[in-house]
Amino acid sequence: MAKSIWVCGACGHVEAKWHGQCPGCNEWNTLAEEAAPARIGGGGARGGGSGGRARAARVVALRDVQTPQVERLQTGIGEFDRVLGGGLVPGSLVLLGGSPGIGKSTLTNMALGNLQAAGRQTLYVSGEESAAQIRLRAARLGAGALDVPVLAETDLETVLATIAAERPEVCVIDSVQTLHAPELTGAPGSVGQVREVASQIMRAAKGAGVAVLLVGHVTKEGALAGPRVLEHLVDCVLQFEGERERTYRTLRALKNRFGSTNETGVFEMHQGGLVEVLDPSARFVGEATGKPGSVVLAAMEGTRPLLVEVQALVSPSELVPPRRVCNGIDRNRLALVLAVLARHAGVGTGTQDVFVNVVGGVRVDEPGADLAVALAVASAARGVAASAGERPLACFGEIGLTGELRSVAHGDRRAEEAAKFGLSPVLSAETAPTLRQALRAALGSPAAAAA
Ligand code: TYD
Ligand code: MG
Repeated sequence: MAKSIWVCGACGHVEAKWHGQCPGCNEWNTLAEEAAPARIGGGGARGGGSGGRARAARVVALRDVQTPQVERLQTGIGEFDRVLGGGLVPGSLVLLGGSPGIGKSTLTNMALGNLQAAGRQTLYVSGEESAAQIRLRAARLGAGALDVPVLAETDLETVLATIAAERPEVCVIDSVQTLHAPELTGAPGSVGQVREVASQIMRAAKGAGVAVLLVGHVTKEGALAGPRVLEHLVDCVLQFEGERERTYRTLRALKNRFGSTNETGVFEMHQGGLVEVLDPSARFVGEATGKPGSVVLAAMEGTRPLLVEVQALVSPSELVPPRRVCNGIDRNRLALVLAVLARHAGVGTGTQDVFVNVVGGVRVDEPGADLAVALAVASAARGVAASAGERPLACFGEIGLTGELRSVAHGDRRAEEAAKFGLSPVLSAETAPTLRQALRAALGSPAAAAA
């Protein structure tokens, strides 16, 4: 009884058995296992029609579509609720991705604990840890977390049956890669399995109105990176990131059908679980060194301004080509900034290693970070501190390829945030039209530095 089919990820070609090379498009290793579609009333094959017997459905103008008022489920973790767009929507499917050890189980466990304490029905399904291990963690997270019903199981059918019997309002599946759909032969975590597990859970969740938080690991190799294949299937994709060794972690929405993708939550890992960092700017500015190679970037994290310290180190290299190492910014962006620095601002780093780090494990993926990276590198290269009087220098702005500075969104809010911490004036496209002028304003003239 063949219950599965093999579908090519590149061309959609369908095969009854596995092939290394797709007979449709000749690509290698693109066939992934899927459950064969159920045949209804002896109908045709995949996507089979009904032979022209179907009746046309009635269509309505969007204006006349009824929108039920849904009450969102508050997880009681302010930063988490804000990233979700105001809490969990009943019946929604949320994918929470992140590398192992980042705190996904901790966050979901805490959320369920709060919901359970607020009188909601919850269920924590774990395929990774035993009930005893989950209890050990929950004991660190406070009383509410211990009241959460738990199921340690990897068999998808058992999990679905338990959800149907328990009828929770919120359910966590930790993780989607550990569940196993028995009708597919692939190993748990393989692309076909992950897709099948997620789609069966989605059907069950939508049917019963259960809000499901699917936890998924993101691996560097990408071989078991199931979450990427689920992005189109789920309502929200949340990414939990930061460095495991550091205490700061950021939670951001990459996709959200019920809210903005601009929101970011900042957390710190403590003895008793994750703690929200309500004013991250204060932390980061307080820790800023103000030494050569350090500047403060007035960044935007979604709709919130955030001050973070950007540090650079420039040192003579023995390698050809020299090292370019960065944390928290895009490598290509660093290459661009270094090229503009060399070509338009007289700061060459061709024979030097350049290291750039956004402090605290924060990631800034916006063009507004260019100026801070450039100033940090130039300040490190010249050994001159970029400061505004006693305080570290705050800046933001995009750098153009001809060496000009460009305005970025929310300039006023960034400047306000810097002013709140006494870091004004702020260096930006409004105060310096070119990178060369910005360098002069921040570091003085190169001749004076050399002297
Ligand atoms: P975990 O939530 O298990 O990570 P994930 O599910 O993403 O793999 O926990 C991550 C790390 O956090 C773990 O190594 C232990 C640490 N931790 C604390 O420091 N304090 C705590 O209260 C808890 C629960 C975990
Ligand atoms: Mg975990």
